[in-house]
Amino acid sequence: MLIECSKKIDVINLDTEYITPFISEDDVTQTMPRALDALRSLRKRVGRGAKMLGWLDLPRTPVREIEAITDAAKRIQDENDCLVVIGIGGSYVGIRAVIEALPEEAPFPVLFAGNSLSPAYHNRLLSALEGKRFAICVISKSGTTTEPAIAFRIFRQKLVERFGKDDLAKRIIAITDPKDGALRKVAEREGFKSFPIPPDVGGRYSVLSPVGLFPCAVAGIPIGEMLEGAAASMGRFTKDDATNEAIRYALIRFLLHERGTIVEVLSTFHPELASFCEWWKQLAGESEGKDGKGLYPASTVMTTDLHSLGQYLQEGKRELLETFLVASQPRSDLTVPHDEEDLDNLNYLAGKPMSEVNRKASEGTAAAHAAGGLPVMSVEGPVITPLTIGNLFIFFEIGVAVTGRLLGINPFNQPGVEEYKTRMLRLLGKPGVKRSRRRY
Ligand code: PA5
Repeated sequence: MLIECSKKIDVINLDTEYITPFISEDDVTQTMPRALDALRSLRKRVGRGAKMLGWLDLPRTPVREIEAITDAAKRIQDENDCLVVIGIGGSYVGIRAVIEALPEEAPFPVLFAGNSLSPAYHNRLLSALEGKRFAICVISKSGTTTEPAIAFRIFRQKLVERFGKDDLAKRIIAITDPKDGALRKVAEREGFKSFPIPPDVGGRYSVLSPVGLFPCAVAGIPIGEMLEGAAASMGRFTKDDATNEAIRYALIRFLLHERGTIVEVLSTFHPELASFCEWWKQLAGESEGKDGKGLYPASTVMTTDLHSLGQYLQEGKRELLETFLVASQPRSDLTVPHDEEDLDNLNYLAGKPMSEVNRKASEGTAAAHAAGGLPVMSVEGPVITPLTIGNLFIFFEIGVAVTGRLLGINPFNQPGVEEYKTRMLRLLGKPGVKRSRRRY
């Protein structure tokens, strides 16, 4: 079922054919008023976490702000060979998702640092920068996160060694809170160019703020198109309408959760969407996993994982929901060649586009997993473009936020993340860190 939008810039649809044996249309109809209430509470900006709903406005970022971002991005492209983006969690994963999904649109090299504490990874990155002109985009809303703070020291030192202290201001861009935090202080004291993260937007909902827009613009992504797709989907998926597919997605997830489903696996047959799945995992995991509730978000990249996790999905424990993330048309194609001898018996496919084989693999897998007793649904778009990526961000953000509201949790905080930080910082001997008093 594809709901058409007049401007054709909002093209996501949800296929629930294989859900019916688990969740009937009656179930959906009965729970729909609650789901629409949850949506209304987001629109009216009330309810738990209401102070963190600024992401609803991001698709309407004013043109002058987009221009300021693209101008600064152009300067970085003109004066450098690559950009090192330093950040973790919501200050990292969405950027990677966009750049990897759209390789043709993102020719300018962007490297990622501060997304782990691995010296081996960071040493490789430092080696890769030898002889290159590079700039740093350091992203941290709090300005105190350990991983990016350490990486920033290391890469800033490298910049000083290579280009001298005087060059820092033109080679460092900070994206952080507009007023508070250590990074804001440093940016102001040292005169770094900076962009603000709106205080009412949490990390995992920030990909359409300067957090995602600036690095993606440097990579070459037409960020205006991505926002246009997001704006169209924001209009559609905030509609008070029982056919709203983001709300149906939320509702199905919620009902399955209440009936014992523990894990949602996002499966894609497009390896370029692997990092998009990582973005979704962060969004869903940090938003819903609290108070002993929430679906554990997992992902697979097919057909690779059909030769490993496929066995489990087909015949393992049936506590899973599988959602397929489908682009029905390829960005580019290849044809299966004809072979005179046909020793591999593959000539029945000769002349067929590889994308068709991939599509049949996707359809066959969905049918097989449904036959194996899994609830299966598909989120589908026509082709991966900046526009459809914008559509998908909003579809999932609304879907996850509404699921969170239905679960009765606050989808916009992440109190559990503090626990490891406190224990790690105490082990590292950070002055003033108190013992955790939280009881689990
Ligand atoms: O979604 C979130 O809020 C988190 O994943 C944060 O983005 C992550 O912890 C990084 O935080 P910060 O931007 O403050 O460095």
